[in-house]
Amino acid sequence: MSHPRLTKASPKPPGITMLQTLLLISLLAVRSLALDVQVPESPLVVLFGMDAVLNCTFSGGVPVFNLSELSIFWQVADTQRSVHSYWNQQDQLLYQEERFVNRTSLFPAHLATGNASLLLRRVQVADEGIYTCFVRVQNYSKAALVMQVAAPYSKPLVTWEAAANPRPGDLVALTCVAYGGYPEAQVLWQDASGHNLTENVTISPIANEQGLFTIKSVLTVVLEPNSTYSCRLTNPLLGDEGHAYVTISAQGMVFPPLALWVTVGLAVCLLGLLVALAAVCHRKIKESCEEMRAEEEAKELEEAKELEEAKACFMHWQKW
Ligand SMILES: *[C@@H]1O[C@H](CO)[C@@H](O)[C@H](O)[C@H]1NC(C)=O
Ligand SMILES: *[C@@H]1O[C@H](CO)[C@@H](O)[C@H](O)[C@H]1NC(C)=O
Ligand SMILES: *[C@@H]1O[C@H](CO)[C@@H](O)[C@H](O)[C@H]1NC(C)=O
Ligand SMILES: *[C@@H]1O[C@H](CO)[C@@H](O)[C@H](O)[C@H]1NC(C)=O
Ligand SMILES: *[C@@H]1O[C@H](CO)[C@@H](O)[C@H](O)[C@H]1NC(C)=O
Ligand SMILES: *[C@@H]1O[C@H](CO)[C@@H](O)[C@H](O)[C@H]1NC(C)=O
Ligand SMILES: *[C@@H]1O[C@H](CO)[C@@H](O)[C@H](O)[C@H]1NC(C)=O
Ligand SMILES: *[C@@H]1O[C@H](CO)[C@@H](O)[C@H](O)[C@H]1NC(C)=O
Repeated sequence: MSHPRLTKASPKPPGITMLQTLLLISLLAVRSLALDVQVPESPLVVLFGMDAVLNCTFSGGVPVFNLSELSIFWQVADTQRSVHSYWNQQDQLLYQEERFVNRTSLFPAHLATGNASLLLRRVQVADEGIYTCFVRVQNYSKAALVMQVAAPYSKPLVTWEAAANPRPGDLVALTCVAYGGYPEAQVLWQDASGHNLTENVTISPIANEQGLFTIKSVLTVVLEPNSTYSCRLTNPLLGDEGHAYVTISAQGMVFPPLALWVTVGLAVCLLGLLVALAAVCHRKIKESCEEMRAEEEAKELEEAKELEEAKACFMHWQKW
């Protein structure tokens, strides 16, 4: 690599080194005309309702550029709908998709340093998707990032319902419910010793108008005294979301025989009461009859009365 004119002016090696450096810089400048746009490779997970920063940086092109040459377009990848646009040194929101109105902004102070990141406020389930960051400074380039939304579920709740008088051996439906989460959670049912009972489960996820799910899982088991069942909820993005359990205790099982004994006891008491009552009445009637007999003997002459009173006694007996 010889340059006669320069070699003449400064024959020492340092001069050549300087020239080489200059050449290298100009070569780099030519190569850097290609614009490099960078976004995170792994999906961005954002909590429902929170604000998100969709990182996007660009480098290359001209090292120092005039901001008036910069254009940025954030779009929804599959529909190409506008999320946020910028050119002529200002936001251009005329064609912005309705649902993004008032929720987006760039960081104007950081544009000159190659930061084209987007701030998206109050993230909704519907915002989940792929976003394209398109940048133009003389040349242009783009990159796409995936945004996922996550919402934690409420603590799961387990309830159970059986026939009016549950007995060991009956089928019982255990229901586990958790609500307000995203995305769809997995449910794991276990017994006290940790066995996976998830075989006979029906899961019904229902989304509300915000796109958040209510997860309802029903496990049918054969009733045994003292058995514990737990329901564990796992959010694919947030991991373990807690668990709840129900214990069907032996006390619950005692209930039907207890009721039977109460009934039998009451019946016995009632019977005893009736017998006692009958005995008392019988004695009372006997006494009144004896009194009448005494009167009869005392007043033999009053035959008509005697007859009447005998009749009354008979009627008493007939009543009982
Ligand atoms: C834009 O970048 C490409 C490489 O990605 C390059 O081939 C092209 O010359 C550049 N265009 C301009 C106008 O700099
Ligand atoms: C965005 O970039 C900044 C600076 O590189 C970094 O600290 C931050 O973690 C990034 N955020 C995301 C969500 O990737
Ligand atoms: C861009 O700037 C914003 C505001 O300072 C910052 O939050 C974000 O992390 C920056 N992103 C990168 C990739 O540097
Ligand atoms: C940037 O470009 C605009 C229009 O092309 C021009 O009016 C302005 O002077 C430029 N600014 C700088 C700092 O070069
Ligand atoms: C956006 O904000 C402006 C000013 O605060 C308000 O007038 C407008 O109704 C808002 N639009 C939406 C869609 O929220
Ligand atoms: C439990 O069993 C269900 C159904 O057989 C299966 O899909 C699930 O992966 C199991 N879970 C664990 C933690 O073993
Ligand atoms: C699942 O239910 C079916 C019928 O409902 C029953 O035959 C089977 O034993 C149950 N399996 C388990 C593991 O409970
Ligand atoms: C049921 O559990 C209670 C309390 O844990 C215990 O005292 C009782 O012995 C248990 N009964 C059976 C049948 O396991």
